[in-house]
Amino acid sequence: SAAEKGGHEYFMLKEIEEQPEALANSLRGHFSGGRVVLDEQRIADQDLRDIDKVFVIACGSAYHSGLVAKYAIEHWCRLPVEVELASEFRYRDPVLDRDTLVVAVSQSGETMDTLEAVRHAREQKARVLAVCNTNGAQIPRESDAVLYTHAGPEIGVASTKAFLAQIAANYLVGLALAQARGTKFPDEVGREFAELEAMPKAVEQALESVDQVRELGARLAESKAVLFLGRHVGYPVALEGALKLKELAYMHAEGFAAGELKHGPIALIEQDLPVVVVMPSPRGRAVLHAKLVSNISEIQARGARTVVIAEEGDETVRPFADELIEVPAVSTLLQPLVSTVPLQVLAAEIARTRGFDVDKPRNLAKSVTVE
Ligand code: G6P
Repeated sequence: SAAEKGGHEYFMLKEIEEQPEALANSLRGHFSGGRVVLDEQRIADQDLRDIDKVFVIACGSAYHSGLVAKYAIEHWCRLPVEVELASEFRYRDPVLDRDTLVVAVSQSGETMDTLEAVRHAREQKARVLAVCNTNGAQIPRESDAVLYTHAGPEIGVASTKAFLAQIAANYLVGLALAQARGTKFPDEVGREFAELEAMPKAVEQALESVDQVRELGARLAESKAVLFLGRHVGYPVALEGALKLKELAYMHAEGFAAGELKHGPIALIEQDLPVVVVMPSPRGRAVLHAKLVSNISEIQARGARTVVIAEEGDETVRPFADELIEVPAVSTLLQPLVSTVPLQVLAAEIARTRGFDVDKPRNLAKSVTVE
């Protein structure tokens, strides 16, 4: 009923709007006595210090949260991080030992490929840390350490609030590792945590664009395809935006690293093709911002309809944006938490306009418990 959906037409929109709360609940209690704390920790301090390589393994949206984590963990911890689809990881011959940390990210905690990857990692003596939204699920039960997200139950099959909570939890994992390894001073860890704590507010602000994006979605519903471009942490956001659109609107959608534009995707650009560009902050690394602006001008010159997700007040980008969607200014690494929001709304609204069931897309399951 509409009441259950909090007055919304579909659960997914309700869950999109619950994201500030999902983030706040997932961060609460995880910084105490000047330290980041996990929920369960059966890895000895010394063993955590000795970690020399990290794998993040997951499927679907959780995998995209892992791609975001790579930027943060490498930067904070000075550790090599590989992010891998669970289904690929276990059938390769990944190099694992007791100094490897495998972070298994799963909303349900029951995804079979991720679970089997966890088992494989443990057989090879790697340490496994689970990031999970479901208390007592199989993946956390079989892991050496656990960090629970508290997004609450997610009804929409396509992940939204659980995804944002996963990103936040992965950052906490990065900070916990940095603290164990001493690559960040305790006060730096505290400062990063404080920035994370400000994110529910920022996501609240990002939600101010919902009406604008819904209206845009209705206008784009007849498109044949949509491309998504991003760079740095904006790249996984582009992948997630494309996945959402495929899942919900059954529309061909691809996410690309913007730097790859000239190596292929630019050949796809044609008159009126919507291209969504996730802009980095102009206050961050100026060179990245300038490169994206040049990408947008090229695709616009070829007739594409540019939809630009940019930091509020980013004036340089305005002339190249057929549609400009503003998100609040946050630090570079945390941008996915705000820039993902309009992409979720866009996919849902295109799907709704096309007459599809946003909460129960065809052929998809909330959790895939077979291989
Ligand atoms: C399914 C869901 C996705 C989810 C993926 C991984 O494909 O439809 O929304 O991202 O499984 O699920 P997990 O529970 O492991 O995070």
